[in-house]
Amino acid sequence: MNNILSPSILAADFTVLGEQIKAVAEGGANYLHFDVMDGIFVPSISFGMPVMTSIRKCTDLFFDTHLMIEKPDRYIEEFAKCGADGITFHVEAAPEDAAAVIRHIHATTSHKGVPLRAGISIKPGTPISAVLPYAAEADMILVMTVEPGFGGQKLIPETVDKVRALRAFVTAEGLDTDIEVDGGITEGNIADIVKAGANVVVAGSAVFRSDAKENTVRLNNLIG
Ligand code: DX5
Ligand code: ZN
Repeated sequence: MNNILSPSILAADFTVLGEQIKAVAEGGANYLHFDVMDGIFVPSISFGMPVMTSIRKCTDLFFDTHLMIEKPDRYIEEFAKCGADGITFHVEAAPEDAAAVIRHIHATTSHKGVPLRAGISIKPGTPISAVLPYAAEADMILVMTVEPGFGGQKLIPETVDKVRALRAFVTAEGLDTDIEVDGGITEGNIADIVKAGANVVVAGSAVFRSDAKENTVRLNNLIG
């Protein structure tokens, strides 16, 4: 299996964002992770559609869009228009109609003329039982390894057990659902989290804190 690194631009230097994106692409990244926050689902506000539209013009990377917003259903078409390839929403933000949100994402066409990929996410305190019913329909399950809202936090060790349990479930069911992790990933723990079962790994600070190209190469080597 080819594991995927998804650099989170939340940790990038926005004064030279184009150069930072070029650096991760040259380092071998295929994904770019967008953390969209609304100040309600999470305490912070980050960025949204105009930023994605602008970046879409300078790269072909897969835009891995992480919506940390209430009622995510409202913005699926908008992000598709701006260049999203995949949209991940939180089950806690759409508890009654998660299946409908997944269907809505799949029914929406990306800038490449194909259906958007759909991801569903859980916060550290939410058990995996909240997303198991959607494991077959979703393309990806995102297990947050920190409380969503801010970059640069420490990974919560208990979340690794959830990754392990989820991988066991997906394998037992014969599914090919991606398992993504996000938050507190470092050079020191990235190999272990992949071993636990994650195959898509978000990294913000670990990529952008220093030379983004070199960090991308090193992290990619560590995940295999
Ligand atoms: C947190 C975001 C993460 C964040 C990760 O709410 O979802 O994607 O950018 O940043 P690091 O890798 O610095 O923990
Ligand atoms: Zn994220």
